[in-house]
Amino acid sequence: MADTLILLFHPSYESSRANRALAEAAAALPGTCIADMQALYPDGSIDTGVEAARLLAAKRIILQFPVQWYSTPPLLKAWQDAVLTRMFYVAYESEGRRLAGKPLLVAATAGNVPEAYVPGGANRFPLSDLLRPLEATAHRCGLAWQEPFLVYGSRKADEEALAAVGTHYAARLARLAKIAPAEAAA
Ligand SMILES: Cc1cc2nc3c(=O)[nH]c(=O)nc-3n(C[C@H](O)[C@H](O)[C@H](O)COP(=O)(O)O)c2cc1C
Repeated sequence: MADTLILLFHPSYESSRANRALAEAAAALPGTCIADMQALYPDGSIDTGVEAARLLAAKRIILQFPVQWYSTPPLLKAWQDAVLTRMFYVAYESEGRRLAGKPLLVAATAGNVPEAYVPGGANRFPLSDLLRPLEATAHRCGLAWQEPFLVYGSRKADEEALAAVGTHYAARLARLAKIAPAEAAA
């Protein structure tokens, strides 16, 4: 099991460029495991026991996905409904409570540019605001919310730009790995 667990939610990873660049850069880091959730659960039927154990074995959790319709891909919501409901509403004492303090980092790629994500811009709201439901979820679950890692303009990024975001992502994950749980929760 991994120290750094990346749960990758991409509905069509075979055609991904941005998330692939991130995942490949992250995979080179020691102690990192990437679970391709769409490949594991193509029909959306999630094994909650396996996924709860996966979370409990990790020291830090990354949710990585492309922004779709100002939100997460549907399988990520299904994962919340299945796995977090089990851990926090059904088996809190034996499972949910044991996640307390683990850092949670959201790594999201957006097709649009930063200027679209401002009041009056094409997308009206900062991306960090659109991710508030995940921040609220982290708070509800006692996870230590981290400043999200956001990639903009991901559809038009050339190979050089994608390589650069991969490098930045790996550096961010390496920094996160050095943070003690108490600091992460601060
Ligand atoms: C159904 C769908 C909805 C999307 N909605 C958004 C959106 O709301 N905001 C945005 O910036 N990009 C949106 N995009 C663009 C994706 O975020 C972008 O293609 C993705 O981040 C690129 O990453 P990838 O190369 O790993 O697929 C959408 C793409 C699809 C297919």
